[in-house]
Amino acid sequence: MDNLIIILALILIFVYLIKRWFLSSYTGYWTKLGIISIKNKVSLFDLLTGKKSNNDGDMQHYTALGQERYGGLMEFGIPLLLVKDLSLARTIFIKDFHHFSERRDVPNSSDTLITDSLFFMRGQSWKNMRTFLSPGFTSGMVRKKFPHFARSATNLQNWMNTHQKTSSGEYEIPVSDAMRKYAVEVIGAAAFGLNLNIFSDKNSKFLEMADRIENINVWQKFKFAIFQTFPRFADLFKISPLDSDMSKYFRNVLASAIEARELSSCGEKDFLQLLVDLKTGTGKIEVQAKQGDHKSREDLAVSQACLFLIAGFDTVANNLMVSTYMLATYPELQQKVREEVDRICGESEICYDHINEMGFLDNFIAETLRLYPGVPRLERKCVLDYPIPNSTHVIPKGTIVIVVAESVHKDAQYWTNPLRFDPDRFNLENKAIQNNNAYMPFGIGPRNCIGIKFALVETKLALATLVKHYEISGTETTQDYVPVKDLFGYKTHPDLKLRFKPRK
Ligand code: HEM
Repeated sequence: MDNLIIILALILIFVYLIKRWFLSSYTGYWTKLGIISIKNKVSLFDLLTGKKSNNDGDMQHYTALGQERYGGLMEFGIPLLLVKDLSLARTIFIKDFHHFSERRDVPNSSDTLITDSLFFMRGQSWKNMRTFLSPGFTSGMVRKKFPHFARSATNLQNWMNTHQKTSSGEYEIPVSDAMRKYAVEVIGAAAFGLNLNIFSDKNSKFLEMADRIENINVWQKFKFAIFQTFPRFADLFKISPLDSDMSKYFRNVLASAIEARELSSCGEKDFLQLLVDLKTGTGKIEVQAKQGDHKSREDLAVSQACLFLIAGFDTVANNLMVSTYMLATYPELQQKVREEVDRICGESEICYDHINEMGFLDNFIAETLRLYPGVPRLERKCVLDYPIPNSTHVIPKGTIVIVVAESVHKDAQYWTNPLRFDPDRFNLENKAIQNNNAYMPFGIGPRNCIGIKFALVETKLALATLVKHYEISGTETTQDYVPVKDLFGYKTHPDLKLRFKPRK
Protein backbone atom coordinates (compact mmCIF):
# COMPACT_ATOMS: atom_id res chain seq x y z
CA MET A 1 0.00 0.00 0.00
CA ASP A 2 2.78 2.39 1.02
CA ASN A 3 4.59 1.64 -2.22
CA LEU A 4 1.47 2.38 -4.21
CA ILE A 5 1.15 5.79 -2.56
CA ILE A 6 4.79 6.58 -3.32
CA ILE A 7 4.36 5.51 -6.95
CA LEU A 8 1.19 7.60 -7.28
CA ALA A 9 2.94 10.59 -5.70
CA LEU A 10 5.88 10.20 -8.10
CA ILE A 11 3.54 10.02 -11.09
CA LEU A 12 1.74 13.15 -9.86
CA ILE A 13 5.02 14.99 -9.44
CA PHE A 14 6.14 13.87 -12.88
CA VAL A 15 2.91 15.01 -14.57
CA TYR A 16 3.03 18.30 -12.68
CA LEU A 17 6.63 18.99 -13.69
CA ILE A 18 5.97 18.07 -17.32
CA LYS A 19 3.03 20.47 -17.30
CA ARG A 20 5.17 23.26 -15.86
CA TRP A 21 7.97 22.48 -18.30
CA PHE A 22 5.46 22.64 -21.14
CA LEU A 23 4.15 25.95 -19.85
CA SER A 24 7.69 27.27 -19.86
CA SER A 25 8.08 26.79 -23.55
CA TYR A 26 4.49 27.88 -24.17
CA THR A 27 4.48 31.32 -25.73
CA GLY A 28 0.72 31.56 -26.25
CA TYR A 29 0.11 33.29 -22.92
CA TRP A 30 1.96 36.41 -24.02
CA THR A 31 0.92 36.23 -27.64
CA LYS A 32 -2.73 36.33 -26.54
CA LEU A 33 -1.99 39.55 -24.65
CA GLY A 34 -0.32 40.92 -27.78
CA ILE A 35 3.03 41.05 -26.01
CA ILE A 36 6.23 39.81 -27.62
CA SER A 37 7.36 36.51 -26.12
CA ILE A 38 10.84 35.10 -25.48
CA LYS A 39 11.74 31.50 -24.86
CA ASN A 40 13.08 30.61 -21.42
CA LYS A 41 16.76 29.66 -21.72
CA VAL A 42 16.92 27.84 -18.38
CA SER A 43 15.92 24.19 -18.61
CA LEU A 44 14.00 22.40 -15.88
CA PHE A 45 16.91 19.97 -15.57
CA ASP A 46 19.42 22.79 -14.99
CA LEU A 47 17.10 24.43 -12.49
CA LEU A 48 16.35 21.33 -10.42
CA THR A 49 19.92 20.04 -10.42
CA GLY A 50 21.14 23.44 -9.25
CA LYS A 51 23.31 23.96 -12.35
CA LYS A 52 21.47 27.18 -13.05
CA SER A 53 19.12 29.44 -11.13
CA ASN A 54 16.15 31.30 -12.59
CA ASN A 55 18.18 34.47 -13.02
CA ASP A 56 20.94 32.72 -14.99
CA GLY A 57 18.97 33.07 -18.23
CA ASP A 58 18.13 36.73 -17.58
CA MET A 59 21.03 38.26 -19.50
CA GLN A 60 20.24 36.15 -22.56
CA HIS A 61 16.57 37.07 -22.31
CA TYR A 62 17.48 40.76 -22.04
CA THR A 63 19.64 40.52 -25.19
CA ALA A 64 16.99 38.50 -27.03
CA LEU A 65 14.55 41.40 -26.60
CA GLY A 66 16.67 43.65 -28.85
CA GLN A 67 15.12 47.12 -29.08
CA GLU A 68 11.78 46.08 -27.53
CA ARG A 69 10.71 47.99 -24.39
CA TYR A 70 9.53 44.79 -22.72
CA GLY A 71 8.66 41.18 -23.43
CA GLY A 72 7.19 38.16 -21.72
CA LEU A 73 8.48 34.74 -20.85
CA MET A 74 7.21 31.80 -18.84
CA GLU A 75 9.27 30.71 -15.87
CA PHE A 76 7.95 27.17 -15.53
CA GLY A 77 4.35 28.27 -15.50
CA ILE A 78 4.88 31.68 -13.88
CA PRO A 79 4.41 34.55 -16.36
CA LEU A 80 7.25 37.08 -16.16
CA LEU A 81 7.37 40.46 -17.87
CA LEU A 82 10.95 41.51 -18.49
CA VAL A 83 11.08 45.29 -18.61
CA LYS A 84 14.02 46.65 -20.57
CA ASP A 85 12.95 50.27 -20.97
CA LEU A 86 14.39 52.16 -18.01
CA SER A 87 11.81 54.87 -17.91
CA LEU A 88 9.02 52.25 -17.84
CA ALA A 89 10.92 50.37 -15.12
CA ARG A 90 10.99 53.50 -12.98
CA THR A 91 7.31 54.18 -13.60
CA ILE A 92 6.49 50.65 -12.47
CA PHE A 93 8.82 50.61 -9.44
CA ILE A 94 8.13 54.18 -8.28
CA LYS A 95 5.20 56.15 -9.73
CA ASP A 96 2.85 53.18 -10.14
CA PHE A 97 4.17 51.35 -7.09
CA HIS A 98 0.59 50.78 -5.88
CA HIS A 99 0.23 48.31 -8.78
CA PHE A 100 3.52 46.61 -7.89
CA SER A 101 3.95 46.79 -4.13
CA GLU A 102 4.80 43.13 -3.50
CA ARG A 103 7.34 40.45 -4.28
CA ARG A 104 6.39 37.06 -5.64
CA ASP A 105 4.26 34.76 -3.46
CA VAL A 106 6.07 32.35 -1.21
CA PRO A 107 4.49 29.03 -0.19
CA ASN A 108 1.86 29.48 2.53
CA SER A 109 3.38 26.75 4.63
CA SER A 110 6.81 28.44 4.70
CA ASP A 111 8.61 29.16 7.92
CA THR A 112 7.23 32.38 9.43
CA LEU A 113 10.82 33.63 9.44
CA ILE A 114 10.25 34.02 5.71
CA THR A 115 6.56 34.88 5.34
CA ASP A 116 6.41 37.41 8.17
CA SER A 117 9.64 39.18 7.26
CA LEU A 118 9.64 42.66 5.76
CA PHE A 119 11.05 41.22 2.53
CA PHE A 120 7.93 39.17 1.76
CA MET A 121 5.29 41.17 3.64
CA ARG A 122 2.43 42.47 1.58
CA GLY A 123 0.22 45.53 1.21
CA GLN A 124 -0.41 47.78 4.17
CA SER A 125 1.41 45.41 6.55
CA TRP A 126 4.62 45.89 4.57
CA LYS A 127 4.12 49.66 4.48
CA ASN A 128 3.54 49.84 8.24
CA MET A 129 6.51 47.62 9.04
CA ARG A 130 8.85 49.49 6.68
CA THR A 131 7.86 52.82 8.24
CA PHE A 132 8.26 51.35 11.72
CA LEU A 133 11.76 49.91 11.11
CA SER A 134 13.22 52.68 8.95
CA PRO A 135 14.46 54.85 11.88
CA GLY A 136 16.84 51.96 12.72
CA PHE A 137 18.73 52.53 9.46
CA THR A 138 19.14 56.29 9.12
CA SER A 139 22.55 57.94 8.66
CA GLY A 140 22.33 59.18 12.26
CA MET A 141 21.81 55.63 13.51
CA VAL A 142 24.69 54.27 11.43
CA ARG A 143 26.89 57.03 12.87
CA LYS A 144 25.89 55.98 16.39
CA LYS A 145 26.71 52.37 15.60
CA PHE A 146 30.06 53.22 14.02
CA PRO A 147 32.14 52.23 17.11
CA HIS A 148 30.86 48.64 16.62
CA PHE A 149 31.96 48.72 12.99
CA ALA A 150 35.35 50.12 14.00
CA ARG A 151 35.88 47.42 16.63
CA SER A 152 35.30 44.71 14.04
CA ALA A 153 37.65 46.40 11.56
CA THR A 154 40.36 46.34 14.26
CA ASN A 155 39.55 42.70 15.02
CA LEU A 156 39.89 41.90 11.31
CA GLN A 157 43.30 43.55 11.20
CA ASN A 158 44.50 41.82 14.38
CA TRP A 159 43.31 38.47 13.06
CA MET A 160 45.14 39.01 9.77
CA ASN A 161 48.31 39.76 11.70
CA THR A 162 48.14 36.41 13.48
CA HIS A 163 48.79 34.61 10.18
CA GLN A 164 52.20 33.26 9.27
CA LYS A 165 54.18 35.67 7.06
CA THR A 166 55.62 34.44 3.74
CA SER A 167 59.37 34.77 3.12
CA SER A 168 58.68 38.12 1.45
CA GLY A 169 56.94 39.42 4.57
CA GLU A 170 53.31 39.16 3.45
CA TYR A 171 50.26 37.52 4.96
CA GLU A 172 48.33 35.19 2.67
CA ILE A 173 44.72 35.58 3.70
CA PRO A 174 41.65 33.60 2.61
CA VAL A 175 39.48 36.52 1.55
CA SER A 176 36.10 34.83 1.80
CA ASP A 177 36.79 33.69 5.36
CA ALA A 178 38.01 37.16 6.38
CA MET A 179 35.04 39.03 4.93
CA ARG A 180 32.42 36.63 6.23
CA LYS A 181 33.87 36.93 9.73
CA TYR A 182 33.89 40.72 9.54
CA ALA A 183 30.38 41.04 8.10
CA VAL A 184 28.79 38.68 10.60
CA GLU A 185 30.52 40.33 13.55
CA VAL A 186 29.40 43.80 12.44
CA ILE A 187 25.75 42.88 11.97
CA GLY A 188 25.72 40.87 15.21
CA ALA A 189 27.12 43.76 17.24
CA ALA A 190 25.58 46.78 15.51
CA ALA A 191 22.08 45.38 14.99
CA PHE A 192 21.68 42.95 17.89
CA GLY A 193 24.18 44.05 20.53
CA LEU A 194 25.89 40.64 20.41
CA ASN A 195 29.51 40.31 21.41
CA LEU A 196 30.40 37.43 19.12
CA ASN A 197 34.23 37.40 19.17
CA ILE A 198 34.10 35.80 15.75
CA PHE A 199 37.79 36.33 15.03
CA SER A 200 39.06 34.70 18.20
CA ASP A 201 36.43 31.97 18.51
CA LYS A 202 37.63 29.23 16.17
CA ASN A 203 34.43 27.23 16.67
CA SER A 204 31.89 30.02 16.44
CA LYS A 205 28.46 28.43 16.19
CA PHE A 206 27.02 31.76 15.04
CA LEU A 207 29.37 31.89 12.03
CA GLU A 208 28.84 28.23 11.27
CA MET A 209 25.08 28.78 11.14
CA ALA A 210 25.38 32.04 9.18
CA ASP A 211 27.54 30.21 6.64
CA ARG A 212 24.65 27.86 6.01
CA ILE A 213 22.68 30.75 4.51
CA GLU A 214 24.68 30.60 1.34
CA ASN A 215 27.00 27.62 1.34
CA ILE A 216 24.30 25.38 0.07
CA ASN A 217 24.52 21.94 -1.47
CA VAL A 218 22.71 20.50 -4.48
CA TRP A 219 19.78 19.29 -2.35
CA GLN A 220 19.25 22.76 -0.89
CA LYS A 221 19.52 24.31 -4.36
CA PHE A 222 16.81 21.89 -5.45
CA LYS A 223 14.65 22.92 -2.49
CA PHE A 224 15.26 26.61 -3.27
CA ALA A 225 14.24 26.09 -6.92
CA ILE A 226 11.03 24.33 -5.83
CA PHE A 227 10.29 27.00 -3.23
CA GLN A 228 10.78 29.87 -5.67
CA THR A 229 9.26 28.38 -8.80
CA PHE A 230 6.69 25.85 -7.63
CA PRO A 231 5.18 27.32 -4.43
CA ARG A 232 2.12 25.06 -4.44
CA PHE A 233 4.32 22.01 -4.75
CA ALA A 234 6.50 23.30 -1.91
CA ASP A 235 3.33 23.73 0.13
CA LEU A 236 2.19 20.21 -0.54
CA PHE A 237 5.47 18.64 0.53
CA LYS A 238 6.40 21.25 3.15
CA ILE A 239 9.65 22.11 1.36
CA SER A 240 11.56 25.03 2.88
CA PRO A 241 14.82 26.53 1.58
CA LEU A 242 15.92 27.34 5.14
CA ASP A 243 18.13 24.86 6.94
CA SER A 244 16.02 23.87 9.94
CA ASP A 245 18.94 23.77 12.41
CA MET A 246 19.94 27.22 11.27
CA SER A 247 16.48 28.74 11.62
CA LYS A 248 16.05 27.13 15.06
CA TYR A 249 19.43 28.45 16.19
CA PHE A 250 18.88 32.02 14.99
CA ARG A 251 15.33 32.07 16.31
CA ASN A 252 16.69 31.29 19.80
CA VAL A 253 19.73 33.57 19.70
CA LEU A 254 17.85 36.55 18.31
CA ALA A 255 14.87 36.06 20.64
CA SER A 256 17.36 36.09 23.55
CA ALA A 257 19.03 39.25 22.23
CA ILE A 258 15.65 41.00 22.06
CA GLU A 259 14.79 39.79 25.56
CA ALA A 260 18.15 40.93 26.95
CA ARG A 261 17.51 44.46 25.66
CA GLU A 262 13.96 44.35 26.98
CA LEU A 263 15.29 43.60 30.48
CA SER A 264 18.02 46.22 30.44
CA SER A 265 16.87 49.00 28.17
CA CYS A 266 19.63 51.56 27.57
CA GLY A 267 17.19 54.17 26.31
CA GLU A 268 18.63 54.11 22.81
CA LYS A 269 16.06 54.05 19.99
CA ASP A 270 18.07 51.74 17.75
CA PHE A 271 17.06 48.74 15.64
CA LEU A 272 17.13 46.37 18.62
CA GLN A 273 14.90 48.72 20.63
CA LEU A 274 12.48 48.87 17.68
CA LEU A 275 12.29 45.08 17.83
CA VAL A 276 11.64 45.24 21.58
CA ASP A 277 8.87 47.80 20.95
CA LEU A 278 7.44 45.53 18.28
CA LYS A 279 7.44 42.60 20.66
CA THR A 280 5.98 44.42 23.65
CA GLY A 281 3.46 46.41 21.65
CA THR A 282 5.01 49.73 22.75
CA GLY A 283 5.44 50.61 19.10
CA LYS A 284 2.09 51.19 17.49
CA ILE A 285 2.01 49.11 14.34
CA GLU A 286 -0.80 47.35 12.57
CA VAL A 287 0.38 44.25 10.76
CA GLN A 288 -1.80 41.64 9.12
CA ALA A 289 -0.03 38.36 9.66
CA LYS A 290 -0.21 35.28 7.46
CA GLN A 291 -3.65 33.63 7.14
CA GLY A 292 -5.43 36.60 8.63
CA ASP A 293 -4.82 35.97 12.34
CA HIS A 294 -2.56 38.13 14.49
CA LYS A 295 0.79 36.47 14.98
CA SER A 296 2.48 36.68 18.30
CA ARG A 297 4.43 39.88 18.41
CA GLU A 298 7.56 38.11 19.50
CA ASP A 299 7.55 35.95 16.37
CA LEU A 300 7.12 39.02 14.26
CA ALA A 301 10.10 40.72 15.91
CA VAL A 302 12.28 37.62 15.52
CA SER A 303 11.31 37.32 11.83
CA GLN A 304 12.57 40.87 11.18
CA ALA A 305 15.75 40.17 13.16
CA CYS A 306 16.50 37.04 11.10
CA LEU A 307 15.80 38.85 7.84
CA PHE A 308 18.24 41.62 8.70
CA LEU A 309 20.87 39.08 9.59
CA ILE A 310 20.37 37.18 6.34
CA ALA A 311 19.98 40.25 4.11
CA GLY A 312 22.81 42.15 5.75
CA PHE A 313 25.44 39.45 6.05
CA ASP A 314 25.99 37.73 2.71
CA THR A 315 25.44 40.78 0.54
CA VAL A 316 28.08 42.79 2.38
CA ALA A 317 30.55 39.90 2.72
CA ASN A 318 30.27 39.06 -0.99
CA ASN A 319 30.72 42.64 -2.09
CA LEU A 320 33.75 42.98 0.18
CA MET A 321 35.34 39.86 -1.30
CA VAL A 322 34.88 41.11 -4.85
CA SER A 323 36.04 44.66 -3.99
CA THR A 324 39.21 43.33 -2.33
CA TYR A 325 39.83 41.17 -5.38
CA MET A 326 39.50 44.28 -7.57
CA LEU A 327 41.94 46.20 -5.35
CA ALA A 328 44.49 43.42 -5.88
CA THR A 329 43.77 43.27 -9.62
CA TYR A 330 44.19 47.03 -10.22
CA PRO A 331 47.22 48.16 -8.17
CA GLU A 332 47.13 51.70 -9.61
CA LEU A 333 43.51 52.12 -8.45
CA GLN A 334 44.42 50.59 -5.09
CA GLN A 335 47.14 53.23 -4.78
CA LYS A 336 44.60 55.96 -5.57
CA VAL A 337 42.29 54.68 -2.83
CA ARG A 338 45.25 54.56 -0.42
CA GLU A 339 46.32 58.11 -1.22
CA GLU A 340 42.77 59.27 -0.52
CA VAL A 341 42.62 57.39 2.79
CA ASP A 342 46.07 58.68 3.85
CA ARG A 343 45.18 62.25 2.89
CA ILE A 344 41.93 62.19 4.85
CA CYS A 345 42.97 60.20 7.93
CA GLY A 346 46.71 60.88 8.24
CA GLU A 347 47.97 59.01 11.28
CA SER A 348 44.64 58.97 13.08
CA GLU A 349 42.10 56.18 13.35
CA ILE A 350 39.43 56.12 10.66
CA CYS A 351 36.25 57.77 11.97
CA TYR A 352 32.72 58.17 10.59
CA ASP A 353 33.39 61.65 9.14
CA HIS A 354 36.49 60.37 7.35
CA ILE A 355 34.40 57.67 5.74
CA ASN A 356 31.97 60.26 4.39
CA GLU A 357 34.82 62.18 2.76
CA MET A 358 36.21 59.21 0.81
CA GLY A 359 34.72 59.95 -2.61
CA PHE A 360 37.04 57.83 -4.73
CA LEU A 361 36.45 54.83 -2.48
CA ASP A 362 32.71 55.39 -2.99
CA ASN A 363 33.26 55.27 -6.73
CA PHE A 364 35.40 52.15 -6.43
CA ILE A 365 32.65 50.30 -4.55
CA ALA A 366 29.96 51.60 -6.92
CA GLU A 367 31.94 50.30 -9.88
CA THR A 368 32.35 46.90 -8.21
CA LEU A 369 28.61 46.70 -7.60
CA ARG A 370 27.92 47.78 -11.18
CA LEU A 371 29.93 44.94 -12.71
CA TYR A 372 29.33 42.39 -9.96
CA PRO A 373 25.90 43.14 -8.47
CA GLY A 374 24.97 41.25 -5.33
CA VAL A 375 21.36 41.08 -6.50
CA PRO A 376 21.34 40.73 -10.30
CA ARG A 377 17.54 40.64 -10.75
CA LEU A 378 14.84 42.90 -9.26
CA GLU A 379 11.28 41.63 -9.01
CA ARG A 380 7.81 42.93 -8.25
CA LYS A 381 4.42 41.29 -8.42
CA CYS A 382 1.57 43.07 -10.20
CA VAL A 383 -1.21 43.35 -7.60
CA LEU A 384 -3.69 45.29 -9.77
CA ASP A 385 -4.21 44.89 -13.56
CA TYR A 386 -1.88 47.39 -15.20
CA PRO A 387 -2.28 49.20 -18.51
CA ILE A 388 1.29 49.72 -19.72
CA PRO A 389 1.79 53.44 -20.45
CA ASN A 390 2.07 54.36 -24.16
CA SER A 391 0.83 50.96 -25.28
CA THR A 392 -2.40 49.03 -25.74
CA HIS A 393 -1.23 46.23 -23.47
CA VAL A 394 -2.61 45.39 -20.05
CA ILE A 395 -0.69 43.09 -17.74
CA PRO A 396 -2.86 40.98 -15.51
CA LYS A 397 -2.71 40.92 -11.74
CA GLY A 398 -0.33 38.19 -10.58
CA THR A 399 2.30 38.78 -13.28
CA ILE A 400 5.86 39.05 -12.02
CA VAL A 401 7.78 42.00 -13.45
CA ILE A 402 11.56 41.75 -13.57
CA VAL A 403 14.36 44.20 -14.27
CA VAL A 404 17.71 42.61 -15.05
CA ALA A 405 19.98 44.92 -13.08
CA GLU A 406 23.10 43.13 -14.25
CA SER A 407 22.25 43.56 -17.95
CA VAL A 408 21.32 47.21 -17.45
CA HIS A 409 24.65 47.73 -15.65
CA LYS A 410 26.51 46.28 -18.63
CA ASP A 411 24.46 47.79 -21.46
CA ALA A 412 26.50 49.88 -23.91
CA GLN A 413 23.42 52.11 -24.40
CA TYR A 414 24.03 53.52 -20.93
CA TRP A 415 27.72 52.98 -20.21
CA THR A 416 30.74 53.73 -22.38
CA ASN A 417 33.01 50.72 -22.62
CA PRO A 418 30.70 48.89 -20.19
CA LEU A 419 32.91 45.93 -19.29
CA ARG A 420 35.87 48.10 -18.33
CA PHE A 421 36.46 48.52 -14.58
CA ASP A 422 36.62 52.29 -14.22
CA PRO A 423 35.58 53.87 -10.89
CA ASP A 424 36.00 57.35 -12.40
CA ARG A 425 32.84 56.88 -14.42
CA PHE A 426 31.05 57.70 -11.13
CA ASN A 427 32.80 61.10 -10.84
CA LEU A 428 30.35 63.95 -10.61
CA GLU A 429 31.26 65.32 -14.05
CA ASN A 430 31.06 61.87 -15.71
CA LYS A 431 27.86 61.01 -13.87
CA ALA A 432 26.16 63.89 -15.67
CA ILE A 433 26.66 62.24 -19.06
CA GLN A 434 25.51 58.83 -17.90
CA ASN A 435 22.01 57.63 -17.31
CA ASN A 436 21.64 57.61 -13.52
CA ASN A 437 18.63 55.35 -13.83
CA ALA A 438 20.90 52.63 -15.21
CA TYR A 439 22.50 51.97 -11.80
CA MET A 440 20.42 49.92 -9.36
CA PRO A 441 22.53 47.66 -7.10
CA PHE A 442 20.26 48.45 -4.15
CA GLY A 443 17.01 48.25 -6.08
CA ILE A 444 14.51 50.91 -7.13
CA GLY A 445 11.73 52.85 -5.38
CA PRO A 446 9.96 52.54 -2.02
CA ARG A 447 10.84 48.85 -1.70
CA ASN A 448 14.55 49.28 -2.30
CA CYS A 449 17.22 48.12 0.18
CA ILE A 450 16.62 49.52 3.66
CA GLY A 451 20.26 48.91 4.66
CA ILE A 452 22.12 50.96 1.99
CA LYS A 453 23.81 53.36 4.39
CA PHE A 454 24.67 50.58 6.84
CA ALA A 455 26.15 48.45 4.02
CA LEU A 456 28.19 51.23 2.44
CA VAL A 457 29.72 52.52 5.66
CA GLU A 458 30.58 48.98 6.75
CA THR A 459 32.15 48.20 3.37
CA LYS A 460 34.09 51.46 3.12
CA LEU A 461 35.50 51.06 6.60
CA ALA A 462 36.81 47.55 5.90
CA LEU A 463 38.41 48.52 2.58
CA ALA A 464 39.89 51.75 3.97
CA THR A 465 41.36 49.78 6.88
CA LEU A 466 42.93 47.27 4.50
CA VAL A 467 44.58 49.80 2.17
CA LYS A 468 45.69 51.96 5.11
CA HIS A 469 47.60 49.09 6.68
CA TYR A 470 48.52 46.76 3.80
CA GLU A 471 49.53 46.61 0.19
CA ILE A 472 47.26 44.04 -1.41
CA SER A 473 48.35 41.80 -4.27
CA GLY A 474 47.39 38.53 -5.90
CA THR A 475 49.08 35.16 -5.66
CA GLU A 476 50.06 32.83 -8.51
CA THR A 477 46.51 31.42 -8.52
CA THR A 478 44.47 34.62 -8.18
CA GLN A 479 43.49 34.70 -11.85
CA ASP A 480 41.89 31.24 -11.45
CA TYR A 481 39.38 32.72 -9.03
CA VAL A 482 37.61 35.50 -10.90
CA PRO A 483 34.34 36.51 -9.19
CA VAL A 484 31.46 34.20 -10.04
CA LYS A 485 27.70 34.51 -9.88
CA ASP A 486 26.15 32.09 -7.45
CA LEU A 487 22.49 31.54 -6.60
CA PHE A 488 22.20 35.01 -5.03
CA GLY A 489 24.82 37.16 -6.75
CA TYR A 490 28.54 37.66 -7.27
CA LYS A 491 31.24 36.57 -4.85
CA THR A 492 34.76 35.13 -4.98
CA HIS A 493 35.74 31.49 -4.65
CA PRO A 494 36.20 30.27 -1.02
CA ASP A 495 39.78 29.21 -1.88
CA LEU A 496 40.86 32.65 -3.10
CA LYS A 497 43.84 33.94 -1.13
CA LEU A 498 45.36 37.40 -1.50
CA ARG A 499 48.66 38.78 -0.17
CA PHE A 500 48.67 41.58 2.36
CA LYS A 501 52.03 43.26 2.97
CA PRO A 502 52.06 45.44 6.11
CA ARG A 503 52.93 49.03 5.19
CA LYS A 504 54.94 49.72 8.29
C1 HEM B 1 26.21 45.47 -0.39
C2 HEM B 1 25.20 45.14 0.39
C3 HEM B 1 23.75 45.06 -0.02
C4 HEM B 1 23.19 44.98 -1.27
C5 HEM B 1 23.91 44.96 -2.62
C6 HEM B 1 21.76 44.92 -1.09
C7 HEM B 1 20.84 44.88 -2.13
C8 HEM B 1 19.47 44.80 -1.96
C9 HEM B 1 18.51 44.74 -3.05
C10 HEM B 1 18.85 44.81 -4.53
C11 HEM B 1 17.28 44.64 -2.51
C12 HEM B 1 15.96 44.54 -3.27
C13 HEM B 1 15.52 45.93 -3.64
C14 HEM B 1 14.37 45.99 -4.61
O1 HEM B 1 13.66 45.00 -4.79
O2 HEM B 1 14.15 47.10 -5.18
C15 HEM B 1 17.43 44.65 -1.05
C16 HEM B 1 16.39 44.59 -0.15
C17 HEM B 1 16.57 44.58 1.20
N1 HEM B 1 17.76 44.73 1.89
FE1 HEM B 1 19.60 44.94 1.08
N2 HEM B 1 21.48 44.96 0.25
C18 HEM B 1 22.67 45.05 0.95
C19 HEM B 1 22.81 45.14 2.32
C20 HEM B 1 21.80 45.14 3.22
C21 HEM B 1 21.94 45.32 4.66
C22 HEM B 1 23.28 45.58 5.37
C23 HEM B 1 20.71 45.20 5.20
C24 HEM B 1 20.27 45.31 6.64
C25 HEM B 1 21.06 45.42 7.67
C26 HEM B 1 19.77 44.96 4.12
C27 HEM B 1 18.41 44.78 4.28
C28 HEM B 1 17.50 44.66 3.24
C29 HEM B 1 16.05 44.49 3.43
C30 HEM B 1 15.34 44.38 4.77
C31 HEM B 1 15.47 44.46 2.16
C32 HEM B 1 13.97 44.34 1.85
C33 HEM B 1 13.33 45.70 1.88
C34 HEM B 1 11.81 45.71 1.67
O3 HEM B 1 11.26 44.81 1.05
O4 HEM B 1 11.19 46.67 2.16
N3 HEM B 1 20.47 44.94 2.95
N4 HEM B 1 18.78 44.75 -0.76
